[in-house]
Amino acid sequence: MVPRMLYRLCRMVRSSVGGGYLFGVKIAMDEKAQIQKSKPEAKWSERLSALRKIPPVLRMVWTCAPEVVVLGSLARVVVSVVPVSLLWVTRIIIDAIDRHIWYHTALPHMFWWLVALEFALAGLSAMLGRVLSYFDTVLADKFTRHISTRIMEHASRLDLTRYEDPLFYDKMERARAQGTDRVMLVQMMGRLIQDFIGAVSLAIGIGFFSPWLLVFLIVCVVPAFLGETHFAFLGYSLSFEQTPARRQMEYLRILGGSRESAKELKLFGLGPFLVGRYKVLSDELHRQNVGLARRKLIFGVFLTLLGTIGYYGGYGFVIYQTVIGALTIGQLTFLAGAIAGASAGIQAVFTTFSGIADQALFLTDLVDFFAVEPTIRSKPGALVAPRPIRQGIEFKNVSFSYPGNRRKILSGINLRIEPQERVALVGENGQGKTTVVKLLTRLYDPTEGQILLDGVDLREYNLEDLWKEIGVIFQDFVHYEMTVSENIGVGRIEDAHNPFRIRAAAIKTFAESVIQKLPKGYDQPLGCRFEGGVDLSGGEWQKIALARAYLRDAQLLVLDEPTAALDARAENEVFERFSELTKGKMALLISHRFSTVRMADRILVLQKGGIAEQGQHDQLVKDGGLYAEMFELQAASYR
Ligand SMILES: Nc1ncnc2c1ncn2[C@@H]1O[C@H](COP(=O)(O)OP(=O)(O)OP(=O)(O)O)[C@@H](O)[C@H]1O
Ligand SMILES: [Mg+2]
Repeated sequence: MVPRMLYRLCRMVRSSVGGGYLFGVKIAMDEKAQIQKSKPEAKWSERLSALRKIPPVLRMVWTCAPEVVVLGSLARVVVSVVPVSLLWVTRIIIDAIDRHIWYHTALPHMFWWLVALEFALAGLSAMLGRVLSYFDTVLADKFTRHISTRIMEHASRLDLTRYEDPLFYDKMERARAQGTDRVMLVQMMGRLIQDFIGAVSLAIGIGFFSPWLLVFLIVCVVPAFLGETHFAFLGYSLSFEQTPARRQMEYLRILGGSRESAKELKLFGLGPFLVGRYKVLSDELHRQNVGLARRKLIFGVFLTLLGTIGYYGGYGFVIYQTVIGALTIGQLTFLAGAIAGASAGIQAVFTTFSGIADQALFLTDLVDFFAVEPTIRSKPGALVAPRPIRQGIEFKNVSFSYPGNRRKILSGINLRIEPQERVALVGENGQGKTTVVKLLTRLYDPTEGQILLDGVDLREYNLEDLWKEIGVIFQDFVHYEMTVSENIGVGRIEDAHNPFRIRAAAIKTFAESVIQKLPKGYDQPLGCRFEGGVDLSGGEWQKIALARAYLRDAQLLVLDEPTAALDARAENEVFERFSELTKGKMALLISHRFSTVRMADRILVLQKGGIAEQGQHDQLVKDGGLYAEMFELQAASYR
């Protein structure tokens, strides 16, 4: 009867939290479809299989603080047997007093020692309680630090594709947001050991006097365990389903409060729009959370009642046994204490266990996240990149589509960059210029065809070594909110503290003129995120980024829109210095500005996934093809 009721209650709760919800916004609706695809089924097997994720995490705990784990566990074992020992000593003391009062027997010669022992045990327990909380704090801190750095390290190794896959991004977000919270699991494991030993020792004590009483107490606690575990799973399912919506909310929150978006939000009057959208999402999540909490409450009241019946039923039985003279007053005291302690202990064991199962479900994300390995990586025994490059770079029938997208961005492309040659890549928006750079730098591998460096496939080279030979400034380069020196130094981290090389790079790219105007020069923090930071204009940031690329002692320079934000004078200066800057290097330049493109030895025109034209500026203009048309359009707008 009870299991059927439980089953019905569980189904009711499940259908209400898992049912269709309306986030009210279109994007969220799309995501809803995605969520439902990946929605976990609330199966017991899955709950139990999640427990398999615990050992790897325990290994992490062990790695970060073995001594704290050992000492903490020992202290817990000692603390856990204190209650039964106390009750046992109390029983002897009370029975001795009882006999002394009623039958005038002498107190046992150990009597006062037993009283002292009781004091000592109580003192020890209190003291160890403090020590345990100290160990918990230390372990929690070490574990959080360890997990946070591991997550950062692992995230930095992953393929770029991973960052563009919303489902994986959700997983990463859950791992990141909840991974460090798993410290609770560690504390719970400790508590489980303590509660378990405590409950078992008290249960043995009860079983010693009445085995049936023990069975009765356990039976009363089992439903609570099942209920707790079930709700833990529902909580996880709900949290799982809510991740995309939470990510949306986080995005809206950041968008609504960031410096980058403030200008536009203000002028377009987007505040209420964003707030409204946030509210729709948060109201829906709130409704779901409260719904689950309410059902948990109703269920919890019912289960607690069962536990209480168990406790008072057992207590009543012991009182009856004492009244009929089957138990002594000392035994009554022991059993009353033991029943209270054991039923609370057994309940705690079950609750903690289901809490651990709950935590284990969250661990699934963390452990799965760590299990994802980058696919773009160096082969064992990979080659070192050639220095100097002798034959150059060649794209051979390279085709490419972004993962999860069938559209071919590049189709059967063939191109060469000779050693020491400076090639420009031009083409209209979205033709795949930046994509060529991503392939050349092995952020992605081609879907078909090969990219060769000195006749050898890029995949044969050691990745880190290959990256050392390439200096790239992407169209959307990073504004590091760090000092000027660091902003340039990140281009070659070995030189991050070499002021001479940093300064030389800055002078070459005209960043020096920007830096001279800053109050703290090279030590000036940039950006407005941190106190004392100074923001730069778009062109000034670009000059700093150029210095970063030049600092890298790379053989291939890739500049995606390097002069887009530079003014006419600065662009002209870069133009004049260009051959000096790229001396002895290969360069790939991408630009919409023909004044920049002219710096190149050879120009490639990218259109519809292939190279439509190539040659030198004058020749291409004379040919009157696509290049000439684009050049004419730009030139005409200046006239
Ligand atoms: N991560 C991605 N996932 C899916 N499609 C993408 C991704 N990045 C770019 N694309 C698509 O690939 C095409 C080529 O993009 P790419 O950034 O290479 O163009 P581009 O030539 O550099 O354009 P622009 O001149 O605007 O910089 C675009 O149509 C774009 O929509
Ligand atoms: Mg681009």
